[in-house]
This record gives sequence, C-alpha cells and structure tokens, in this order.
Amino acid sequence: MEAIKRAAVIVTGASGSAYGLRAIQQLADGGAEVVAIFTPTGEAVARYEVGLALDGPDRAASLASFLDLSRTATVRVADDADLFDPVSSGSNAPDAVLVVPASMGFVASCAAGLASDLAERVVDVVLKERRPVVFVPRETPLNLIHLRNLTTLAEAGAAIVPAMPAYYTMPKTVDDMVDFVVGKALDVLGFPHRLFERWSGSEPALDG
Ligand SMILES: Cc1cc2nc3c(=O)[nH]c(=O)nc-3n(C[C@H](O)[C@H](O)[C@H](O)COP(=O)(O)O)c2cc1C
Repeated sequence: MEAIKRAAVIVTGASGSAYGLRAIQQLADGGAEVVAIFTPTGEAVARYEVGLALDGPDRAASLASFLDLSRTATVRVADDADLFDPVSSGSNAPDAVLVVPASMGFVASCAAGLASDLAERVVDVVLKERRPVVFVPRETPLNLIHLRNLTTLAEAGAAIVPAMPAYYTMPKTVDDMVDFVVGKALDVLGFPHRLFERWSGSEPALDG
C-alpha cells in the first residue's frame, strides 16, 4: 500500500467527535497533510461533546490550537458546502478518507452515491479512484437499513471499522478507548501509530 501523504478526515453528526479529532491529530502530527471536513451536524455535535468552536475567522488555526498540533502539522478545514474545493475532484483526490465518527445518515447518503456536499463527494471520489476509505460507524442498535448501507459501502471497497473498543488492552481512561478505535482505523491505512499496545500473547497488555 502507498504511504498516506494526504488524507481527508470527515467528522459527521454521530456521537463520538473525539474519535475524529484524535484521527486528525494523529495523521497531522504523523506528517500527513490533512483536510478536515465537518458536516454541519458534525460541527454542532463536536461543540456539544468536546467544546470545539470552529466559528472564528481561521478555522484551521482554531482546530490546530484545540488539538495542540505540532508546528509542522498541516491541517486545512474545508467548507462542507463548497463543492468547488480542490479535493472534490478525482484529479486531486486525497490518498485516503476516514469518516469518523460516521452517522447512519451520512452512511446512507454515501451508500446511495448522493455526493451532494463536499464530504459526500470526497467519499464518492476516493471510492471511484479505488483508494482507501474507512468508515467508523457509531450507532446502536443497528437496524436493517444501517446494516444494508454499510454492506453496500463494504462492497464498494470501503473498510468498516466500528467504534467498538476492545478490553483486552485493559483501558483505564476514555482516551484509551478512543485511541484503540482510532488506531484500528489507522491500521487499515497502514499509517504508523502507537495508540495501543498490540496483543502479543495471553498476558495482559502492560503500560508503556
Ligand atoms: C448529540 C447528537 C448525537 C447523535 N449521535 C448519533 C449517532 O451516534 N449515530 C447516528 O447515526 N446519528 C446520531 N445523531 C443524529 C445525526 O446527527 C443526524 O442523523 C444527522 O442528520 C446526521 O447528519 P451528518 O452525519 O450528515 O452530519 C446524533 C445527533 C445529535 C444531535
């Protein structure tokens, strides 16, 4: 798999904004150029759940400050309403897309191929270019419509990495549980991280 140099991270209106923000932080601090796209509900839920305010004049600076990104990190916050954004085209598509967290509404729109705003269009484009697309769905319980839409996306080439933290890593904090899920999503991209201790046998995983 090609190394991921440019990634789009789409934060939708599902609960779990912390997953998306951690993914942006890991990719950006890990050296990838990140385009962050918040759907309107994704932005509202992030404000509600973690207090992220992106309504200042420089949205990228607000995000970088909130995430305490390194000075070398490259993050741009694209406008979900702007279908003229460069990443809207297959000729300038990112190397990969993470939809994290992914709401069932967004999953449905992508499964139907609507491409009616920038976030949906980027997923559509990266799937057609046969590059990695990872959905981290967050809903429970799942109804048959959700399951069918997720199946459609998997059939179209997307990876489905549900927001299901493991317990064999002995998580002690909510951040540990967030890190496990984000680490699993980054594993699909082959993007290096140290977000969780890998299973190495029957002994409990230790700190460090
Ligand atoms: C606080 C809050 C939490 C939500 N959590 C979820 C969720 O976990 N999963 C989900 O599918 N939708 C959830 N929703 C509903 C979606 O935000 C809603 O369906 C929205 O239209 C999705 O749009 P978007 O994801 O395209 O932004 C939540 C809404 C709110 C206000």
